[in-house]
Amino acid sequence: MVDLSTNIGCVRLANPILAASGTFGFGREMSLFQDLSGLGGICAKGLTLLPRIGNPPPRVAETASGLLNSVGLQNPGLEAFLREDLPFLQTLGCRIIVNIAGHSTDEYLEICRRLDQTPVDAIELNLSCPNVKEGCMLIGSNARLTERLVAEVRKVTAKPLWAKLTPNVTSITDMAASAEAGGADAVVLINTLLGLAIDYRTRRPVLRNNTGGLSGPAIKPVALRMVAEAYRAVRIPIIGIGGIMNGADVLEFLIAGASAVEIGTANLISPTACHDILNQVKNLAETEGIARISDYTGTLELWNP
Ligand SMILES: Cc1cc2nc3c(=O)[nH]c(=O)nc-3n(C[C@H](O)[C@H](O)[C@H](O)COP(=O)(O)O)c2cc1C
Repeated sequence: MVDLSTNIGCVRLANPILAASGTFGFGREMSLFQDLSGLGGICAKGLTLLPRIGNPPPRVAETASGLLNSVGLQNPGLEAFLREDLPFLQTLGCRIIVNIAGHSTDEYLEICRRLDQTPVDAIELNLSCPNVKEGCMLIGSNARLTERLVAEVRKVTAKPLWAKLTPNVTSITDMAASAEAGGADAVVLINTLLGLAIDYRTRRPVLRNNTGGLSGPAIKPVALRMVAEAYRAVRIPIIGIGGIMNGADVLEFLIAGASAVEIGTANLISPTACHDILNQVKNLAETEGIARISDYTGTLELWNP
């Protein structure tokens, strides 16, 4: 039997598999297909203070080995989440991580003050959404703003803070280090890569928002590189994400330096992807004779140049 448990700071996960924000809703629909208590946790859809209807359609487009989306943070807003979705999430028996986004520091602070009084296990600060005009990626692509925002949020909540970073930067290590300096308990790498799909017949972008965020297997090598770089730059745990489709992908992220992973686009292909991937991880680790899954973390041996 492999010990699948892992710690993200003070948050103990039964296993390293988390459902990624924006690809699992608030767990309600996915719970129709499976018992979600077996997952490490669920990262809920990105929340803002007020409801958002998101961007106009079309807002998803399939690309080679990937998906381009510009959902634009459609969500019911904090109050509706606390009233209707959090009570449901609490029945599922796995860790609850609330992903939040703001157009200003004040909005992040207000949401975190409210979440501090709730039973959520961690707050994932979305500093990386490429599909909204203000806040988010603008903050997350500036090291000084990232450190300041995390530090401000740190003052208003005792909840574990996970900073979800954007790959759309020159130096991911600078961004990870500034999240750590601000007081983040973990960094989550990566959100989507900014992309463009064009229809040659109309000569227009496929997405109504023009650009979107690229996810899926196409981005896995970028994500792995960033996790490996960040592992050498920060001491806080790293949660790896980007294009994970099977158990072998999970082990690659752990070896690169992740302590846990999030599964995103794979959920849109199969609603049982998280469970299937967890079973694959278990079988692979058993075959490899690994006693504890956490023994994989950060074991990458780079070649000498
Ligand atoms: C349709 C869709 C909606 C998303 N919404 C959010 C969101 O609300 N908050 C967030 O932090 N990330 C969001 N993401 C990004 C994912 O959580 C994840 O970081 C990204 O898709 C890369 O992982 P993947 O390749 O496994 O999908 C979204 C991704 C997709 C495809």
